[in-house]
Amino acid sequence: MSHSVALSFEDGVTRFITCEDEQTVADAAYRSRINIPLDCRDGACGTCKALCESGEYDGGTYLDDALSQSESDEGYCLPCSMKPTSDLVLQIASTSAVAKTQAARHDTVVTAVEKLTPTTVRLAVEAPAGGTLAFLPGQYVNITVPGSEETRSYSFSCVSGSDELEFLVKLTPGGLMSTYLSDTAAVGDKISFTGPHGSFFLREAQRPALLLAGGTGLAPILSILRTMAAESSTRSVHLVYGVGTDDDVVQLDELAGLASTLDAFTWDHCVSDPSTTAANKGYVTTLLNDAHLNGGDVAVYLCGPPPMVEAVRTHFTEAGIEPTGFYYEKFAPSSAAAKESLDDDTDSATEVLANDDRTSTIDAAVATADADVVPAASADLEPALDGRSIFGRAVFGSRVKEPLHKRDTGFSASDEAETMRAIAGQRVAVVGSTADQGGLDEGSDLVLTPEAHSVAAQRIWSSRDIQPLVVRSSEAPPVSASSSGYEIGEEHPSVHESDAVFEARRALELGALELVIGRLSSQQISGYRLLAETTTRYVDGDRFVDAAAYTETNAAFHDYLFTQTGNEHLLQAYRALGVKAAMEEVLRNATWCDPLCAQDHLDIVDAFEAGDRERARTLIADHADRSKATMKRAMHESRSNKRPRFVSPGRFAGKVVLITGAAQGIGECVARRIGAEGGSLILADRSELVESLTEEFRHDGVDATPVIADLETWEGASSVVDAALAAHGRVDVSIHVVGGTIWAKPFAEYPPEQIEKEISRSLFPTLWSCRAVIPHMIERGGGTIVNVSSVATRGIHRVPYAAAKGGVNAITATLALEAAPHGVRVVATAPGGTDAPARRVARGPAPSTEQEKNWYQAIVDQTVESSLLKRYGTLDEQAAAICFLASDEASYITGTVLPVAGGDPG
Ligand code: FES
Repeated sequence: MSHSVALSFEDGVTRFITCEDEQTVADAAYRSRINIPLDCRDGACGTCKALCESGEYDGGTYLDDALSQSESDEGYCLPCSMKPTSDLVLQIASTSAVAKTQAARHDTVVTAVEKLTPTTVRLAVEAPAGGTLAFLPGQYVNITVPGSEETRSYSFSCVSGSDELEFLVKLTPGGLMSTYLSDTAAVGDKISFTGPHGSFFLREAQRPALLLAGGTGLAPILSILRTMAAESSTRSVHLVYGVGTDDDVVQLDELAGLASTLDAFTWDHCVSDPSTTAANKGYVTTLLNDAHLNGGDVAVYLCGPPPMVEAVRTHFTEAGIEPTGFYYEKFAPSSAAAKESLDDDTDSATEVLANDDRTSTIDAAVATADADVVPAASADLEPALDGRSIFGRAVFGSRVKEPLHKRDTGFSASDEAETMRAIAGQRVAVVGSTADQGGLDEGSDLVLTPEAHSVAAQRIWSSRDIQPLVVRSSEAPPVSASSSGYEIGEEHPSVHESDAVFEARRALELGALELVIGRLSSQQISGYRLLAETTTRYVDGDRFVDAAAYTETNAAFHDYLFTQTGNEHLLQAYRALGVKAAMEEVLRNATWCDPLCAQDHLDIVDAFEAGDRERARTLIADHADRSKATMKRAMHESRSNKRPRFVSPGRFAGKVVLITGAAQGIGECVARRIGAEGGSLILADRSELVESLTEEFRHDGVDATPVIADLETWEGASSVVDAALAAHGRVDVSIHVVGGTIWAKPFAEYPPEQIEKEISRSLFPTLWSCRAVIPHMIERGGGTIVNVSSVATRGIHRVPYAAAKGGVNAITATLALEAAPHGVRVVATAPGGTDAPARRVARGPAPSTEQEKNWYQAIVDQTVESSLLKRYGTLDEQAAAICFLASDEASYITGTVLPVAGGDPG
């Protein structure tokens, strides 16, 4: 039994969690990603002390030092030890902020303001004292512009651990930071920033890297190169640096110096201004050649505006190259900033556009790479918040006050489409937009379907998206993290494959490690350990005790590390990989788990507690390998389990077989067997799962056509037959499986609406399907209909369902009479209890109250008792009977309902 616990924080925020039987409140809170104060986790320190406003609980065991008798009498309690016995309301002695990911704030002073060229300034500040700041090469901070409340974002161009932090700023007339730097900035000025932010950073790998920098997008690339130099990296790296005018060219001497330090580093640069004196005139894509792409086995790191990202992506597509990793940080300028820049220097606005007709038609305003930020008051945008601008360019706030296309900005609706906010790889129009989203997605590598594939800015995979992960790779979805208008993303052509998912997770975790190792407090370690320990409950040696619970708690464990970085983008990037969704799909019925997987979690926490960086790195890498092994074994077992146990080769060769309810359970099993026996399949279901099943069949060489339809309606049923006739011109066999009990209860307890729904679910799909297909079979002068009934016509606690299945029996008998003269057979099976994996799409709500569970259990007991074999049947046993009746082997059987229930005649 579960209880709802309201956690009321000091700042007035209340969060609700569900606490299961025998689960402590702290455990439930951490699994819900709410990190309440915690230290000993054992009732010894009192850190977690809370006040219970209402409800009953078992306080557990604890020391008096942690909670005195008088405190207990007053209602104080220890969430690490207490287990609710009713719903609770607890006052938590902290603010809700402890549960959130928050970037640290740093106060420092300016150490250098150096005008490198007429358009670009090098800004340096003192590194915060005490080693409190660590960042990854490629990350950025949000700097509060002195004398204002506004923040602007700039990437580090230096190495983490430097005494002086360095940034490159493109000057834009009127820009807030530009004005400060040009007019008043001086060494010694106080300045503050938050960060580090962003998930754009160099991942550890040996494969060659291709770095592409547009304008002052050079800053994070410099940080990457300087870090590699500091580490004496031997990794092969090539940089292409593109700018608009000669004035924008900076740090060439620095790049030359890096090239002399790094043996495997080469670079080139170009200027798009036709009057340039640079050796290369043009855009970054003109300097890319096959050697840089290494046949696709290359990690591309690109920092530039959206058109540059798209131009490079297009270049790769046209070259037939899919980089193993494509990491990008792109941004869109504010309308006002763009317009300012246009007024100022239209040419520079197109500095990094590819030499490509399609992209070069994009309005110059959109292509502005180095527009400085502008005051919020003139930007027509929400005041900038953390993460809403990057590299000094304002980006869209969470809400644009007015549709961009209605303002005098030079933006058209199509331009707007290019600058639409991208959320987790799926473009989303601004409020009030008239841009055509459908057209936008067409032909792109973005999500094609209009339905949302992202939740709370986190891309999720539906089950059918996941299916290819299990069997093969097909396309490369973008994996992006976007918080507020700009987009950081990564793409991998093979991310559907579980190995790629776990390798990407490992790369992110190794980055997160660098940010937090040696910096976690004892309370943070306690929370981490609590989550690690929780995962161990769901494995026993090399067996999953509960794979679903393991997946859930494992996700909470891995989330936690990213949460502790204080960097929301890293957390989003991790979640966007879809590790949890992939595990949920693959491990649903898994039994084997690498025996060290859960132990790894505990060991990783130990390594973090000890500040043992190398040990933590090794464990994270090994854990990724063990996760991959667990997934691979589960996929193999899943494929083996799906193979039909019995097959009569060629029995349905040349036959067109329509199956309703084909996505799961008996219908799916029948489809697998008939597919294996040579039949051409029409797979009908209300669930989209039928599409992924079809893909799997086609991959195995089985002819299959999916039809999504609501078979409770005449329109749905007739559309399925229409689709079959359109695909094959005939239906030889029609197998009607749809149906099933929704609720289990005595008849007197059924409200009328539930009775109607039961009848609609279990009678009409067969009635309509028979009606839809019979004219065609009569016209052809042959065919077979197999209906799936039930022995529940004599079962308890499901009278409406039994009535529906009695109707199926009647349809079978009477239609057989009418159809026999036309050479059409109509038969049925009546399954008894059948063991099947948990349904991916539930028929109805699971029994929740004790009474409902008892009613359901009574059905189970009666089903087993009435079977002479005293057991449930299997899917294979049900499919065997259906396939026999559907085949020519049963050519002398019609009008019969065959019980398949271990001797229960129904
Ligand atoms: S008493 Fe609960 S964390 Fe120590």
